[in-house]
Amino acid sequence: MEPEIGKEIRDIALRLATVMESDHDLLPHLRAPIPVPVLVDALAPAPVREPEPAPVREPEPEPVPAHAPVPAAPGTAQPQPPDLSADVLSLRDVVETCARCTLAGTRTRVVFGEGPVGAKVMFVGEGPGEQEDRTGRPFVGPAGQLLDRMIEAMKLGRGDCYIANVVKCRPPGNATPVPEWTVACAPYLERQIELVRPRVLVALGTPAANFLTGTTLGVVRLRGRLHRRGDIPLVVTYHPAALLRDPGLKRFAWEDLKMVMARLRGV
Ligand code: URA
Repeated sequence: MEPEIGKEIRDIALRLATVMESDHDLLPHLRAPIPVPVLVDALAPAPVREPEPAPVREPEPEPVPAHAPVPAAPGTAQPQPPDLSADVLSLRDVVETCARCTLAGTRTRVVFGEGPVGAKVMFVGEGPGEQEDRTGRPFVGPAGQLLDRMIEAMKLGRGDCYIANVVKCRPPGNATPVPEWTVACAPYLERQIELVRPRVLVALGTPAANFLTGTTLGVVRLRGRLHRRGDIPLVVTYHPAALLRDPGLKRFAWEDLKMVMARLRGV
């Protein structure tokens, strides 16, 4: 391409020189091949400067009320507020005898939650599964084993974290919690958060994300940015059970967990 253009330019220049019958001193130069790089430079469009990358800034936290209301389904009766205790141990006693919804009649054990007050991270899941119902401990089944590995990947231990659920009793057949159950259980999780006062909250899956953000959006819309619940930073990510079903989602969950780690470092 370039040698042809060079030849064309030389031909035009030779014809010009001949027509003008002047400045024959130029002819030897015009006959000499024009170095390709000069042509390329001359014909190249003006260099386009890549735009400076925009500074990466953490998204502004969204203001979310400290007590995001859990919308009750139309026609769902609001149960009376339970007796909420002043410390986690006595709150546990209250929850273990709870009969505020129909799950009290189908559960084996209440799964209150576990971890230290002042935990670095508080993970909130959806509700106990079969193994949790049997043992009374949160996240001990296959999803729990993956959650343990996620915690390890964050260079934390389970003992640094508080782990709880939106509903404290197993929904039959692991059904997604319905408003009757979440509304009845809501004051317990709200009080747990107040008493534990974690440095960062992590919602695992859509039911937890809806509870903690006060929205009805799915994880896909809510993850990847920082929220707040009152003055506590809140990160939404996929439920470990979703990651087991679709391992391709793990890289997104890891991005979310890195955001949690950055908050813990004070970044
Ligand atoms: N899934 C949850 O959401 N919570 C558990 O405790 C176990 C599995």
